[in-house]
Parts: sequence; structure tokens; C-alpha cells
Amino acid sequence: MVSGICPFTFSALPVGQYRHLCLLRNVDATFTGMLQELRLKCGQTLPNRLAKAAMTERVAGANHNPNRYHVQLYKQWAANNPAPGLMISGNIMIDRSSLESAGNVVLEDDRGMTALRQWTSTAKSGGSKFWAQISHSGRQTSRLINLHPRSASAVQLHEKGLYGKPRALSEKEIQDLIGRFARTASLCVEGGFDGLQVHAAHGYLLSQFLSPITNQRTDDWGGSLENRARFLLEAVRAVRKAVGANVALAVKLNSADFQKGGFDQGESLQVAEMLEKEGIDLLEISGGNYESPSFLLNDGVGVRESTKRREAYFIDFARDLRKKIKTPLMITGGFRSRAFCDETLKNGDTDMIGMGRPFLISPTFAQDFLSGALSEVELPVLKPMPAFGLMSEAGWYAYQIARRLSRGKAPKWNLGAFHSVSHILWHETWKSMAHRIAG
Ligand SMILES: Cc1cc2nc3c(=O)[nH]c(=O)nc-3n(C[C@H](O)[C@H](O)[C@H](O)COP(=O)(O)O)c2cc1C
Repeated sequence: MVSGICPFTFSALPVGQYRHLCLLRNVDATFTGMLQELRLKCGQTLPNRLAKAAMTERVAGANHNPNRYHVQLYKQWAANNPAPGLMISGNIMIDRSSLESAGNVVLEDDRGMTALRQWTSTAKSGGSKFWAQISHSGRQTSRLINLHPRSASAVQLHEKGLYGKPRALSEKEIQDLIGRFARTASLCVEGGFDGLQVHAAHGYLLSQFLSPITNQRTDDWGGSLENRARFLLEAVRAVRKAVGANVALAVKLNSADFQKGGFDQGESLQVAEMLEKEGIDLLEISGGNYESPSFLLNDGVGVRESTKRREAYFIDFARDLRKKIKTPLMITGGFRSRAFCDETLKNGDTDMIGMGRPFLISPTFAQDFLSGALSEVELPVLKPMPAFGLMSEAGWYAYQIARRLSRGKAPKWNLGAFHSVSHILWHETWKSMAHRIAG
């Protein structure tokens, strides 16, 4: 078989794969847009416009504290020169009974503070600002972790039998969770984070409250959009009160759930206006959930031609949003070429470029992209496994985090879809067993 040498791993790959796996390089000395600073309302300045979007690390042990794997992972990203202006952690959970993954960091008290400080100081060592994404998974909590998750209403997520039937949260429990968002935010700041991002996208608990499909409540927390947005707004208010005006506060919001009858673009525009009134520093736009995963499209097979042409998945929505609010925006999903990022910034369609997967295919991605040595990223195109939906795409990248980058190893390019799915299933199973045993 004809083969080529991958420039990052120096391993031989079949030419067909090599074409997809390699980063395209050339030099353009005129590029400057992404290197501009961004000053936020809270007084914080982000040194450039490239943000590493939140990507769940899934490498915590049964105590759910950060550990040497978190440190190693962020050490590589921080070693870039320049490093990304902003790095956002993966989901940090506010409640250990509701996890997005059994390997999540959970911050309910100050037990992991020493490890947390080590993680944040490493991540910030290259000049990046480091924000914590704080989250509650609601009904998107695997059965292996919790057989009886809690959500806005008792609407079950039917995905491969992995999720139990949730029960609706009581008013008292909602108030408790709002307090937990605030408590986790305070602990994050005490542990060295520069800011917080409240996760209200991708079908997690706050997003479940926003959607009329998963929120069928008839009390003050359901029904009208004002009521469905109440939990998010109260959580944002509580976090601001807990951390003060000088800490950056952001929200990740869906442009839409992309489901019939779900949270749609008209509603998202209105919620963005409500968030602007709360004085948040940055709004990140994404979209979709586990049933409709438009935030994690497979570049080769899942993206429509029209989306490919406009590159970033949610750019059209961001342009509409721009007409409504002045809050700085970050759009995430699908950015691949430097020219397009520059153009988007120049047009004022976004203030920050959020990128995820490119950071996992090369540890030096940030400096290559920011310096102008790299003009375009091509992600690996995995053969889809329809029966497993998101799992092969998510599994490929989860493997690179857990088995390669967090252990100081180069990414493994020639990982097939089957191996990716097996990795994520096995990883979640044994981590969930450890979580259960530890209680
Ligand atoms: C392995 C992996 C883990 C992710 N974990 C999170 C997460 O914890 N929180 C979140 O908001 N988004 C998460 N995402 C979504 C990314 O933030 C981002 O929205 C998505 O990857 C699309 O951007 P991209 O096309 O640049 O990769 C994750 C994506 C990947 C690939």
C-alpha cells in the first residue's frame, strides 16, 4: 500500500487517510485579526481571539478531583507561543449525582483545592485566561452513574438505552441547585480560574429547562419562555453575586436545539437579550443536544454543502444576534480556515473564535494557527457507525484526550470508528464502577 509520513507523529499512514489527517500548512504574514486583544466588561483582557472551547476531559478518578492528567493536558496547550487567548475547561459538575461523564471533575467543597490550583496555574502559564465551565447534566446522566436522574420534567432521553427515566425537580431542589452553581463558581475562583461559563447548551439541565420538549412544567419554571429561562437567569445572578463584578462570567447557549417543537432560534434571540440585561461578559453560541447533535458534526459526512460553504455551523444565527445585542460573542463549531476566522472577526460577526477538535489533533495547533504557519485544519473523517450515533466521533476525540494528550503522547491518527466506540463505552463503564464504589 502507498503510504505517507504524518508530520506530527512521523508514522506511516495510507495515503487516503493521510490526506484527511494532515494539517495543511503555508505561511501568510499579513494575518493579524486573531492576535488582537479583547477587553471584557469585568475588566479582564483576553490576549487574542482564539478560544479553546470546553471539551470534557473525563480523566478524573473516583474522587472527582483534578489530577496529573489534567495538568499534563493543559501544559501542552499552555506551552504554545502564542497560547490561546482563552481556554475553557470541560464540564465541571456542581453535583456528584449528576455527571456528564464518570471521569468529570466535581466541585462541591474545597477538598480538591491543591490539585485545582496546580491545574489552573499550569493552564495559565502561557498567558491564556482559564475559565471553568460549570454544569449539571440533568437527564443526560448515564444509567451507570444514576438510575434516577432529575430534570425539568419526567421526559426520558431514549439513546441506546443509556439513560434512565428522570423525575421532575421540586421547587426546593431547583433553589438548592441554584445555590450549588454559586458555590461551585466561588470554589473555582478560589482555585485560580479567571472566569466561569454557565453551561446552558447541548441538552444539559439548564438547556432542558429552556426546551418546551423537556420542560412541561406548569409552575413558575415552565410554560412561557420567561418561566423556562428563569432557572438559567437565577443561576447567572447567583454566580455573579458569589464571584463579584471583576470575574468573567459567560454563558454557553444553543442557537436552537434543532428539534421540532424544541428551543428555537427566535427563543434563543430573546434569551440572549435577557442575558445581556444580566451584564454577562461573553455569550458562546452552539446548538443541538444528544438527540440532535449539531454541535459535533463529522466534517466529512455530517455537514451539508451549505454549512461547509459558510464553515462555522452557527454563523448565520450569530449575524442575526449581532443586530440584537452588544455583548461580546464567541461562536463555536466548524471553524477550520484561518482566512475565514479572520474575515468573521473583521466583519464583526463574532468577537472570539471558539474551536474544539483542532486542539486535539495537534498539541501545537494554537501557535501554528495564530502565528500564520497553518492556514487550514482538516479533521479525520471517520467512517460513521449509524447504530452508535455520536459515539464514534466523540470516542475518537475522547481517546486522544484520555489515552494520548493527557499522558504526554502524540495523537493517534489511525484509530478506527469501532475502536473509538469501544474506548468510550469501556472507559465510561469502568469509571462509573469506580464512582459507584467510592459512593
Ligand atoms: C471530546 C469533546 C468533548 C466535548 N466536551 C464539551 C464540554 O464539556 N462542554 C461543552 O460545552 N462542549 C463540549 N464539546 C463541544 C465543543 O465545545 C465544541 O462545541 C464542538 O467540538 C464543536 O467545535 P469544533 O467543530 O471546533 O470541534 C466537546 C467536544 C468534543 C470533541
